[in-house]
Amino acid sequence: MSRFSPEAVFDPASCTSCGRCRLVCPVSAVSWDPGGRPSFDPRKCIACGHCAAFCPAGAFGCPGPSCVEPCSGDSLLSLMKRRRSTRFFDGSSISDAELARLLEPVGWSPTGVNACGLAVRAFRDTEALALGTGIVRTARLLGKCGLLRILGALTGTGPFLEREAAGEDLVFRKAPLVLFFFSPRRSPTSLSDGIIAATLVMTAAEAMGLGTFWNGVARTLHPVMPGWRKSSRARPGMRLCAVLCVGRPAWGCRPIPPRDWELLGPSIPEKARV
Ligand SMILES: Cc1cc2nc3c(=O)[nH]c(=O)nc-3n(C[C@H](O)[C@H](O)[C@H](O)COP(=O)(O)O)c2cc1C
Repeated sequence: MSRFSPEAVFDPASCTSCGRCRLVCPVSAVSWDPGGRPSFDPRKCIACGHCAAFCPAGAFGCPGPSCVEPCSGDSLLSLMKRRRSTRFFDGSSISDAELARLLEPVGWSPTGVNACGLAVRAFRDTEALALGTGIVRTARLLGKCGLLRILGALTGTGPFLEREAAGEDLVFRKAPLVLFFFSPRRSPTSLSDGIIAATLVMTAAEAMGLGTFWNGVARTLHPVMPGWRKSSRARPGMRLCAVLCVGRPAWGCRPIPPRDWELLGPSIPEKARV
């Protein structure tokens, strides 16, 4: 995909000189020439496309908002209320079409200073299962040389490690699809960028009737698991931000009450709450 370039697509004949592009530009790359037209500084431009997105006249060649279906906020909230971590999958695969649809939000995901550069490695079916069996094998090896007990005692994960060594895949849980989200380390918001993209994919999965769980254990183990770095094919300078396991849930679940959280500052009046 080529980088968005306002000067390349701007059509002066459609411009109404309203000045909105200058107002919304986050990096002051738009200036106003004496003729009442915008000009764009490619050295400052971060290619975020906001000039085009907010131009009321469509002077940057983008179609009107009606080309994208409106989405009800209520249905999005319902998705969030219904979502639960899925740790048991029905054994079926995620199709190519499903994977393509699931990953589509990565291309719409915001990144700090529009640095982009996100990369996703999808482990599917046998490759995904192999990630889990790799951990079981490692736990067995550690058991054989007496290190499993010590590691369990040191980290407080004894019972978990015992179950792994006995053959249960408690880390990847036989998920048919495992997604590793990478982001360039050089980006000032690298970690958040990758986590935001994974969150959008989690939401898309939910909308598609799929289940997910965030795999914090895999993310932590990534630097020490032999082979993972290589098989994830991450380029140098990329950081693993999130690991999301995806599949079709084996069981339905009930909505449960929300968790505790805190609103700092003035409280919301009782009558405003639904
Ligand atoms: C950053 C993060 C890392 C997580 N890592 C794991 C994990 O390694 N294994 C796992 O089974 N669940 C993991 N989870 C899922 C949490 O355990 C789960 O979100 C929590 O129990 C609440 O349940 P819910 O997802 O159904 O709301 C993780 C969740 C988050 C947000």
